[in-house]
Amino acid sequence: MDIYQVLKNDHDELKVLVDELVNLNEDDDFRFILIDQISDLLVPHSRAEESIFYNSLRVVNADKKITFLGFQEHLEVEGQLRQLQIKDKLSLDWKATAEKLRNSLLHHIEDEETEIFAEARTAFTKQESESMGDAFVQLKAKVQKEGFIKHTADMIINMMPPRLIDKLKNLGEPRT
Ligand SMILES: [Fe+2]
Ligand SMILES: [Fe+2]
Repeated sequence: MDIYQVLKNDHDELKVLVDELVNLNEDDDFRFILIDQISDLLVPHSRAEESIFYNSLRVVNADKKITFLGFQEHLEVEGQLRQLQIKDKLSLDWKATAEKLRNSLLHHIEDEETEIFAEARTAFTKQESESMGDAFVQLKAKVQKEGFIKHTADMIINMMPPRLIDKLKNLGEPRT
């Protein structure tokens, strides 16, 4: 499957989850499960998307503004998710934050599926988009297995200039 389709499948799944979340009653405990499900999909999706898709766009010198916008929106959406996780534990008004998260996420998905996909379609061949799709699926599974902490560092490394990324990532690998 090509990268556009695998990313869109995750986006569709995320949209269903956030819609379900904002429609819950204030005191519905099912929110704990939904927030975990959103986090378990959103964070690995975003890290793999940055590593495979955004970084490939940067390597082929696509419009820098577009990938920067994507990174910025990831930070914003994940900040709201963290806020929601904290508010939820404290039982503060979680619904307002859930609404904000939903709006930012829908806005981000719209930007990716229009502007960013359009830029990518001019930059990559059909075969490249298939290979990126496979690489994305594998990396996302790896992030899901390894957990959140290591991949927060990856988010920061992913924002470095493309030619430095591999070197920086290798610094963190154990020597054999
Ligand atoms: Fe995405
Ligand atoms: Fe994204």
